[in-house]
Amino acid sequence: MTYQKWEQDKEFMSLISDLLDRDEVQQLKEITQHYYSTRLDHSISVAYRSFSIGKKLKCDTRALARAGLLHDLFYYDWRSTKFAEGSHAYVHPRIACDNAEKLTALSDLEKDIIVKHMWGATIAFPKYKESYIVTMVDKYCACDEAISPLFTKMKQSFSSQWSRVKQSLSINTIPTNIK
Ligand SMILES: [Fe+2]
Ligand SMILES: [Fe+2]
Repeated sequence: MTYQKWEQDKEFMSLISDLLDRDEVQQLKEITQHYYSTRLDHSISVAYRSFSIGKKLKCDTRALARAGLLHDLFYYDWRSTKFAEGSHAYVHPRIACDNAEKLTALSDLEKDIIVKHMWGATIAFPKYKESYIVTMVDKYCACDEAISPLFTKMKQSFSSQWSRVKQSLSINTIPTNIK
């Protein structure tokens, strides 16, 4: 996970620790999300970024943290599992919401955050500003998780090639004190 400060944030931890301790949530560690992250990394990232933004905007930070953490609480492989009810974008938020309700009581706001987090790919508009925060943060995290490790790899490969070039240039340079 690229956003590590969450573990040191006592306020955030006090809001989610009961959920984070649950096996149903820890199981998300075993599932790959956006190529380079696990579903648990992704969920924590969405929860913490949403919580941090919500704090600045005076939103319901409890709902942002908890529903953010639970927004992708599903276990099926979307590449191979298809549903008659609709697309993965439509179905998985509803499954996540049902699963989340088995772990904790959800407010209407928390339900809306979870069910509408795929807004854009699904048409029903979120009802609350907190739901807009989570859907936008979810998209940002998905891009960040999928793309930034690629950039890091490219940067590392470029810098190692550049050091080789520099090394070979310094070997081939005639020292200025030789005449
Ligand atoms: Fe999702
Ligand atoms: Fe997500």
